[in-house]
Amino acid sequence: MERQFKSSVITLEQFIIQKEQNFPYATGQLSKIIRDIVLASRIINREVNKAGLVDILGLTGETNIQGEEQQKLDLYANDQMIDALFKGRMVCAVGSEEEDDFIIKNGSTGKYIVLMDPLDGSSNIDVNVSIGTIFSIYRRKHLEGELTREDLLQKGSEQVAAGYILYGSSTMLVYTTGHGVNGFTLDPSIGEFLLSHPNMEFPEYCNTYSVNEGNYRDFFEGTKQYLRHIKRDSPKPYKLRYIGSMVADFHRNLLKGGIFMYPGTIQRPKGKLRLTFEANPMAFIAEQAGGMASSGRDRILDIDPQELHERVPIFVGNKEEVLKLESYIKAYGKYGREAITV
Ligand code: AHG
Ligand code: MN
Ligand code: MN
Repeated sequence: MERQFKSSVITLEQFIIQKEQNFPYATGQLSKIIRDIVLASRIINREVNKAGLVDILGLTGETNIQGEEQQKLDLYANDQMIDALFKGRMVCAVGSEEEDDFIIKNGSTGKYIVLMDPLDGSSNIDVNVSIGTIFSIYRRKHLEGELTREDLLQKGSEQVAAGYILYGSSTMLVYTTGHGVNGFTLDPSIGEFLLSHPNMEFPEYCNTYSVNEGNYRDFFEGTKQYLRHIKRDSPKPYKLRYIGSMVADFHRNLLKGGIFMYPGTIQRPKGKLRLTFEANPMAFIAEQAGGMASSGRDRILDIDPQELHERVPIFVGNKEEVLKLESYIKAYGKYGREAITV
């Protein structure tokens, strides 16, 4: 009789293979990119875990004891990711928050373009608070000839995969290829990501909001009215949770229910976060998890990017909450009801 082996543990690798079997025509290229990103993230994770030792091992940006220049962690993460992606040969171009322009691999046969924020929440590195890596994958439109703007700057709705790695109390990978969202936790003892959060969805109940409310006085009227409403009129008080790392704030809200926002302000109407590197991948994940992502007016994934580093106001999380926010923006507009009627 055949012996039965039962284990409830599924590694990321096993998960990828299982999923590929559901798509017999898959070439495996996309999976290879995910593997390359994960490889880089494990290296970044190692350095992130040592960040607290910089005082005794040498500060980043300075020369270390061996006379080598110590790299800042966000630039280190950037280099690791780019290196892994191009060595993997499935990618023909990379856009990064740390690079002014696309890095194009001439002559590459890779069909994919990766956009990324190699280290998100970098101001939290020095204070031992969670940070992350965000990635977003597109397929090039024209397989022949030089890459065009149409290949490089696509709407978020064209993403074929997106995800983030959270360097927190545990290291986690959360990603989607458009068939739901799955979360994996790194088991450091075996160096493998294990499926820990299958089919992630925002819980129905939402009473957390995440925003840098220090900017309140400069928010537009619609945002202010929404914030006043959730604090003043809701039957149960909302919790305010704001870490200052989008990945960590988003992740908590995905697990517990909540809305993350980085609104526009009078000085910066488009806010701070990047459409390409931050908003689009998180919007894709949010929608795949039953949530919603809006600029306050438009669906994030429908926005046609005009430039690589374009910024966008973002409100992302539980669908009902984002809809409520949109209704306030619609009612009060940017400068308040009175300004709209003049
Ligand atoms: P990055 O470290 O990649 O520049 O991103 C930081 C972002 C985001 O993670 C976070 O939500 C936001 O900036 C925090 O900004 P404030 O300090 O203005 O709240
Ligand atoms: Mn960022
Ligand atoms: Mn960053």
